[in-house]
Amino acid sequence: MKITVVGAGAVGATCADNIARKELCTELVLLDIKEGVAEGKAMDMMQTATLLGFDTKIIGSTNDYSKTAGTDVAVITSGIPRKPGMTREELIGINAGIVKTVTQNILQHSPNAIIVIISNPMDTMTYLALKSSGIPKNRIIGMGGILDSSRFKYYLSTAIGCTATDLQAVVVGGHGDTTMIPLARLATYQGTPVADFLSADALKKVVADTMVGGATLTGLLGTSAWYAPGAAGAALVESIVRDEKKLFPCCVYLEGEYGQKDICIGVPVIIGKNGWEKIVDYKLNDEEQAAFSKSADAVRVMNDVLATLNV
Ligand code: 2OP
Repeated sequence: MKITVVGAGAVGATCADNIARKELCTELVLLDIKEGVAEGKAMDMMQTATLLGFDTKIIGSTNDYSKTAGTDVAVITSGIPRKPGMTREELIGINAGIVKTVTQNILQHSPNAIIVIISNPMDTMTYLALKSSGIPKNRIIGMGGILDSSRFKYYLSTAIGCTATDLQAVVVGGHGDTTMIPLARLATYQGTPVADFLSADALKKVVADTMVGGATLTGLLGTSAWYAPGAAGAALVESIVRDEKKLFPCCVYLEGEYGQKDICIGVPVIIGKNGWEKIVDYKLNDEEQAAFSKSADAVRVMNDVLATLNV
């Protein structure tokens, strides 16, 4: 098994680190456009192998895609991150060209690779990667919902006063501050609705905090977060390479599911060795479905911007 992570910035390097620690592959390529950075981070990680006890071989590459040949799963984190006060959507002008080129380069050397997109604006970058490559829809997966759901569980656990691992909670819709939809009605604390443990106001605050979870961190850090985005990317890769069939909210191409067509947006999917294998119908109520349609409208506006860019 061979995995490539493109972009050796904080998110890409953290994702690669998690992949190596979990020994998800025999060979892991970390590639970046900045001279020496991927080689340096790969070497640094390799020097943790005896300390952490993993055998994955990590290879760094400065933009040499021939080293990625034979990749089974590629994670694309390339592009610029947001600065405090910026939305993910403001990154489109720069990141669209980068994501399109990286996708082409990966597929040139690994035509059967499954592609995971982390670059922002993630929903539109996933759509761009799919449309520009023409590969089967099941092989392009945007990682946003796994991260947002993990943040949702963090805020719920803090409000309830329990461990986050006892919670089931899912965020669907776009990966944007105003487009994501934390599904509070379906969230449970070991099977019991979280509404039994929190007041309506407290639950409302958890939902609001989750939606701006990434922006809160950007404000604190001066750049976007990396530990949770990197770990979420690795969790998605793990379900693919171990064929775990995990049910994760991911950004995938819809053809009528959830009332939407010709769009990539977050819905619950089963993830296994073929990429995303099945969309699960959560049977949203009217209010949730209306929020989902509104979220899709906003993602579509962003997708329309692609036509105005020279990519
Ligand atoms: C985040 O929400 C990077 O989009 C990512 O932190």
